[in-house]
Amino acid sequence: MLIRSDRRGFTHRLTSEITPRGVYENRRQWLQGLAAGAAGAAMAGWPARDAQAQTARPGKLPPLPGSLSKVAGAVTMEKLTGYADVSSYNNFYEFGTDKDDPARHAAQMKTSPWTVEIEGLVNKPGRYAIEDLLKLSPMEERVYRLRCVEAWSMVIPWVGYSLSELIRRVEPQGSARYIEFVTLADREQMPGVRSRVIDWPYTEGLRMDEAMHPLTLLAFGMYGEVLPNQNGAPVRVVVPWKYGFKSAKSIVKIRFVEQEPRTAWNKAAANEYGFYSNVNPDVRHPRWSQATERRIGEDGLFDKKRKTLLFNGYEVQVGQLYAGMDLRKNY
Ligand code: MTE
Repeated sequence: MLIRSDRRGFTHRLTSEITPRGVYENRRQWLQGLAAGAAGAAMAGWPARDAQAQTARPGKLPPLPGSLSKVAGAVTMEKLTGYADVSSYNNFYEFGTDKDDPARHAAQMKTSPWTVEIEGLVNKPGRYAIEDLLKLSPMEERVYRLRCVEAWSMVIPWVGYSLSELIRRVEPQGSARYIEFVTLADREQMPGVRSRVIDWPYTEGLRMDEAMHPLTLLAFGMYGEVLPNQNGAPVRVVVPWKYGFKSAKSIVKIRFVEQEPRTAWNKAAANEYGFYSNVNPDVRHPRWSQATERRIGEDGLFDKKRKTLLFNGYEVQVGQLYAGMDLRKNY
């Protein structure tokens, strides 16, 4: 790793991993072109993504249709984390517990054909093919900060649409108060599933109003392309005001339920990982502080840690969901 000081005296990491601006801007133009009318062509490329996903290099995965006009995140002024960091420093325990395990092993996961089953308290249960989910609503690009419970963060341009679009289509019944995500757990394709770190499958959950919040994204891509496998292809959720583990990857089932669902991390260590897990600098993880975070790609010797913001900086948008709740108890 090289460290270089620029004219203004900032010190930052120089790495071939950071996506060159030109590459990223080219992809944006590509995406804008698609949004302008060629979206069908991108859909046609979907079945071919499996083979191409293996490479996981910027500009190598099929593009997704998207509109860049509706950036809903509040963090677009922040520098994006380089694509190579985002796709090589991952938590995806199904592929191993080291940060580089997912990038090494996820290529073997087959993401086509893929279906997502909708079940539980809905009027329209059923099995959706990924191709149908892709067409369900126009895609948007949203730049969100992802804050991991391990006190690091990234800034990522996701592509997808609000989960609420899907929820509305399946018509939840009045008694559906929570939503549970179940993700793929296949011992053949996922070497980590043979370990017992987690009670597989990895599951997560949201209260219905959290799931319906417009910021909650059903994501199919990032940086204008389909998701690399290690980032949760072909479909995941991104809940930007919660610690990263709430954002379940490679979803195969969405269940509408009445009771608060048990979640994988809550089962593994209930005193460390609560159901809500809203980013909160004032509530320590039992083993470390949550007051600051390290931005991936800015971890040079002289780079300062950043202060962690309540709700990861999305308090204005989501604070009212928790009015009257004791967030120290409901962590
Ligand atoms: N989803 C599944 N299925 N398995 C996992 O291990 N890890 C979570 C979350 N979703 C995880 C998962 C954690 S701890 C984090 S921080 C984010 O994914 C990381 O997402 P990223 O690798 O795209 O940054």
